[in-house]
Amino acid sequence: MQIAIDGPASAGKSTIAKLIAKNLNFVYCDTGAMYRTVTLLAKKNNVGYGDTLGILKLMSEHKIHFTNEIDGQHVFLDEEDVSKDIRTEEVTNNVSQVSAIKEVRTQLVQMQRDMANDTNIVMDGRDIGTTVLPNAEVKIFLIASVEVRAQRRYKENLERGINTPLKELQDEIAARDYKDSHREISPLKKADDAIEVDTSDMTIEEVVKKVSEIVNKQGR
Ligand code: DC
Repeated sequence: MQIAIDGPASAGKSTIAKLIAKNLNFVYCDTGAMYRTVTLLAKKNNVGYGDTLGILKLMSEHKIHFTNEIDGQHVFLDEEDVSKDIRTEEVTNNVSQVSAIKEVRTQLVQMQRDMANDTNIVMDGRDIGTTVLPNAEVKIFLIASVEVRAQRRYKENLERGINTPLKELQDEIAARDYKDSHREISPLKKADDAIEVDTSDMTIEEVVKKVSEIVNKQGR
């Protein structure tokens, strides 16, 4: 079975997708981590985030792969575990530019389809229900207000010792929403057959319960 979870930045997709995958004993795939890893690859090699040819050359020379550990999914660039490095502000603020490159998307979408082939999987991203897995049995579109999403990021940052002003986070989230929904290729968009869940006023447990109910109804 394939479960697609899409939605804007910081709507809670990865938290929910991870828990659903764990409960069902499915593989979990965080596709945003792949776009982030390509962004990190460009940064490490001083290649511009809009330099299509430079980025494609780097992608042909390096390998991205995932492992599933007890503490969750880890992403590797060649042999290096970059799971933490892909979460820096620098990567977060530039990943929309890299993920708008058509050829980058083509390659990563192929990797994502290969991962989902013949496997029970929960995959989260922006275009899973519309493009990557259009035949997924279950499609969820998670949303939350910009204010609530900024507040969640603010708390997460504080836990990591970073104190970014709330207003700055709101502006960043709104800017990323705009770029992700207005790019030419596979923009962030709810699939016609996806079920929208607004998590603004819900706890994590409530969202997991709601999504599990949808999975039980639609997927079996
Ligand atoms: O889910 P995330 O915030 O880690 O995603 C990082 C960026 O990657 C996001 O701003 C847009 C892009 N992305 C994408 O274009 N398509 C996906 N399937 C997943 C992420």
